[in-house]
Amino acid sequence: MPVLTVVGAQWGDEGKGKIVDLLAEQAQYVVRYQGGANAGHEVVVGGENYVLHLVPSGILHAGTLNIVGNGVVLDPDSFLGEIAGLNKRGIKTKGRLFISPRAHLTLPLHKALDAAREGADGQTKIGSTKRGISPTYMDKAGRVGLRLADLKDPRYCMEQLKTSLQEKNVLFRHLYKSKPLTAGVLWKAISADAKALLPYMADTEGMLNAAYKAGKRVLMEGAQGTLLDIDFGTYPYVTASNSTAGGSATGTGLGPTRIGYVLGVCKAYTTRVGEGPFPSELDPKRDKVLRELGGEYGRTTGRARRTGWLDLVALRYAAQVNGLDGLAITKLDILDTFKELEVVVAYKIGSKVVTGFPATTAELAKAKPVTVKLKGWNAPTTGAKTFAQLPKVARAYLNYIEKFTDVKVALVSVGAERNKTIVVDSKLKSWKF
Ligand code: IMP
Repeated sequence: MPVLTVVGAQWGDEGKGKIVDLLAEQAQYVVRYQGGANAGHEVVVGGENYVLHLVPSGILHAGTLNIVGNGVVLDPDSFLGEIAGLNKRGIKTKGRLFISPRAHLTLPLHKALDAAREGADGQTKIGSTKRGISPTYMDKAGRVGLRLADLKDPRYCMEQLKTSLQEKNVLFRHLYKSKPLTAGVLWKAISADAKALLPYMADTEGMLNAAYKAGKRVLMEGAQGTLLDIDFGTYPYVTASNSTAGGSATGTGLGPTRIGYVLGVCKAYTTRVGEGPFPSELDPKRDKVLRELGGEYGRTTGRARRTGWLDLVALRYAAQVNGLDGLAITKLDILDTFKELEVVVAYKIGSKVVTGFPATTAELAKAKPVTVKLKGWNAPTTGAKTFAQLPKVARAYLNYIEKFTDVKVALVSVGAERNKTIVVDSKLKSWKF
């Protein structure tokens, strides 16, 4: 079953872009299954830097077809801007990029709501990217959203917009003290984009099932990470979709029995953007050192990421809720100069030592990390082409992760470029899952 799901195993920004790009070399289809323009996948190819928000990373490979699944929320402006940017750099999108008719649209009203909610008194500050993601999913669940296919039916769109604005305008007027919106003005903006968007619409669910039947290699690309998942993440400091592996079934129309391998991507340490508890967070001095070494600044918002030691409690939990088959450890080289490292192996909450991941943010906020000190390898890893060529102490670090999480290290990344990658699990080369 050559269907591979790649998920973030931490709080996002694990380096999925590079891993997906590398594996996409052999994939025939690359599929985004959730999230929207809040994601920022950075890929370095031939010294050129690409940051993709909505377009699947497979676009950088000439022979790959790319699908934006039904689970994604699509911001037309962002999508069309991204396409224009790619086309300008000589990357074709027509005939290589397809969007599900069932994908919901992020409209200006959603972005306005996101920004208003994030700034409002009495609302929990989530640290949202303000790309309108949560309001779009709210409308999807509230059954007042617009989907790509709806753009073909202006009358239906106007009705949906009017229904949606009945509630929204009460909020805009009375709670957020801003100008109400009208369905007519909104539709004018949306219909202008429709012409450019609709040629990308295709029966992606049908395409993927046909591809599966024909034994094609399909790569499902997760955005954000496990701890930002709406169900399994550190609620309410989460994104509004299922970024975990299950989302790759519901967000694409390819059923769960079709997925052959789930690869979890995690950094050799931990980072988090936005608000919310982060038990392994470093003290400000060491946080700054690790942030500068790792270049830990958000690709979508430019925000500084918070950094911490590798949290194995959280990683083991991610392994469970995703059913991980393998781990891709990224940015190992960032730890090359450390003489000593720590990993979190339990939390102390009050007088109790817990080894499971707490369900509430309140508990997690009280969690003091119980760490184990490990030797740093204090030697370069960037030149290693095989697992055996890594410094012995670095291998011991990876083995420690494997033992703790009960998931094998399937891939190790030791630099930003494609060739700075060690593929350990031969299944990821052969796609025989
Ligand atoms: P939203 O998805 O924009 O609503 O943001 C919700 C939370 O998810 C915030 O803490 C964001 O910083 C975080 N978030 C959203 N997308 C990403 C991502 O691609 N990487 C890391 N964090 C993200």
